[in-house]
Formats: sequence, structure tokens, C-alpha cells
Amino acid sequence: MASIARAHPNIALVKYWGKADDDLIIPVAGSMSMTLDKFATTTTVELTTGLDSFELNGTLADAKATQRTTVFLDLVRRLAADAGLETATASANVTSVNEGPTAAGMASSASGFAALAVAAADAYGLKLSTKDLSRLARRGSGSASRSLIDRFAVWHAGTSDETSFAEAIDAPEMAMVSVTVDAKAKKVSSREGMVATRDTSPYYQAWIDVTHKTLDEMIAACADDDFARVGQITETHAHRMHAVIQATEPPIRYLAPVSWQVFDEVAAMRDDGLEAYATADAGPNVVIICRPDDATAVAKRVAGFGAIETFAPGPGAHLLDAA
Ligand code: ADP
Ligand code: DP6
Ligand code: CO
Repeated sequence: MASIARAHPNIALVKYWGKADDDLIIPVAGSMSMTLDKFATTTTVELTTGLDSFELNGTLADAKATQRTTVFLDLVRRLAADAGLETATASANVTSVNEGPTAAGMASSASGFAALAVAAADAYGLKLSTKDLSRLARRGSGSASRSLIDRFAVWHAGTSDETSFAEAIDAPEMAMVSVTVDAKAKKVSSREGMVATRDTSPYYQAWIDVTHKTLDEMIAACADDDFARVGQITETHAHRMHAVIQATEPPIRYLAPVSWQVFDEVAAMRDDGLEAYATADAGPNVVIICRPDDATAVAKRVAGFGAIETFAPGPGAHLLDAA
């Protein structure tokens, strides 16, 4: 019998960029995000004998993605062994479909590993709490820890495997409008980009320091239900992340000229009284935050820059009924 799970990407308002521990994926600072209600990943895990296999979007995945999945399954098998389960020695056939762009800065690794964590835990017979699933998903991709959570999440950086996990936070009512200017896979993955930033960006320590402060400010703005402040913090923090990344040697630049045009258009919206703020992950695609009632007007203003989607806060990763 197969286990099937569904998870959605999440877009960070306070970004995660940098690891304190590369193996455990403990971040240098906490982060905060909204889980989307579209661009889902659906992942099926079926135990088998022989080698693990990983099919992504209808074709066998490349060696790198397959290896990343197997390393993750090894963690699940170790948990199964610790729990004394017979499944601990089984391999798995993993089949996954991303409804959003893959490896293009729209958080496919977040929805991908959140769905895989939930489906694999079920297939191997583990009974894990949401917190423990968040910790497990984190080992696949840091941002995946947040896709376990409904609506809005804070990932507590923590200092150990036990203390680094995401949980829910209330935030002002908002919608997101994504502008996909390029759905192709990026040249430098988030994983590689983070290492290069740590190793060569002279602004890395300043980025870590400011991210700690920014998360505190974001949590306060959420507690005050202050949409404008949440938006301002989000946009400033996104620019700071791209600044620390661009200062690497050799330089890495995720934003494209069209991405900057979208940021300019969002600033123009604000001048016109349409309250919107923009952010971008490690890729050229821009995500705009606005009040739910303004989403249609915002989408119209940026329609010429790329493919548009509008999102409400979405559900955390969950199991689907077995096929
Ligand atoms: P993104 O901006 O899309 O999160 P990343 O560079 O962080 O890009 O991660 C992309 C990698 O995530 C892919 O190369 C693959 O290894 C992994 N990934 C993407 N989708 C899935 C999925 N559905 N299941 C498992 N792994 C996935
Ligand atoms: C820019 O979680 O994809 O999207 O932990 O190496 O898999 P790994 O990196 P990943 O990094 C996400 C970076 C970001 C910001 C964010 O989502 O917080
Ligand atoms: Co990612």
C-alpha cells in the first residue's frame, strides 16, 4: 500500500539564508513564512526491495535530486530502526509532482520535502507529531520545516536537532500575488548559494545579526496585527538577503532585470495608494504581499511582467487517503 501526502510551498517574509550546521540543517537565524494554497506537491511513497527510486514530475530525477531523496530516506529508516520497526530495512519508490515551478525560487524544496516527510513517515510506520515532522522535513530542506504548518509559521532556529522546528503564528490578513518571470531551474541551488555566501560574502555576519532583529520585529508586528509594518519589514529583509548574496565571490545574482521592474511597479502601487510590498526568494520570481481585497488590482498591475497567481494562506502538509 502506498502513502500519499500533499504539501504547499511557503514564502518567507523573514528569510532563511545560512546554516550553522550543514548536516542537521540548523539555520543561523530563525525565519517566518506564509504557506501557500496553490502550487502543491503530491508525493507517493511505496516500500519495496532493491534500490530507492525517485520520479519527479513524470521522469526519473537526476542523480543529485535522487541522492538527496535517498539521504533523506536514510534518516527515516534510522527513525524506523530506533522505533524497532521491521520497515527499517525497506527501500522506497518515491513519485512526486510539483504543481508549481521546480528549483526556480518558488520553494519547491519546501513543499517537496514536507510532502516527502509526511508520506515517508507514514509508509515506514512512524507516528510523528507535527513538531517532529517539521524537524524531519527540515533535514531535507530547511524551508520545508515551515510547510508543515497551516497559514503562517515561525521556524525557531534552535541550537540542536530537537530545538529547530517551525510552529504556527498569527499574522495580519493578507494575500500573495506571484509573478513568475522565469520558471526555469536556477543555476545555483539554494543549498550551494548559502555555502558560497557564508564562505565569501563580507556582509554575512551583518546579515545574521540583522535577521535576528528582523524576526523579533516581525513577531511584534504580527502581534500588533500591523499589515503595513509586516510588509515593510518583508521588503527590506528581501533586499538585504539579495545584497548579502550578491556580495559573494564570484558573484551570485538571483534577480533578473524584470524582477527589479516588478519591485519598481510595487513601489509605484504604493505611491498610488495601493498598499503592496514585494519579496523574492533565491530566484528571479517576485512575490507581492497585499491585503486580500487588493489582490485583483495588484495582479492587474503586474500582469505584463510574467505569469500571475494569487494565493491565500494554505494548509500544512498532510496525508491523503491511500490509493
Ligand atoms: P526552490 O527554490 O525550488 O526551493 P532549491 O534549490 O531550494 O529550489 O531546491 C531544488 C531542489 O529541491 C531540487 O533540485 C530537488 O532536489 C528538490 N526537490 C524539488 N521538488 C521536490 C520534490 N517534489 N520532492 C523531493 N525533492 C524535491
Ligand atoms: C531564499 O530551504 O531551499 O527561499 O535548506 O539548503 O534546502 P536548503 O535551502 P532552502 O532555502 C530557502 C531559501 C529562501 C528563503 C526562505 O525560504 O526562507
Ligand atoms: Co528551496
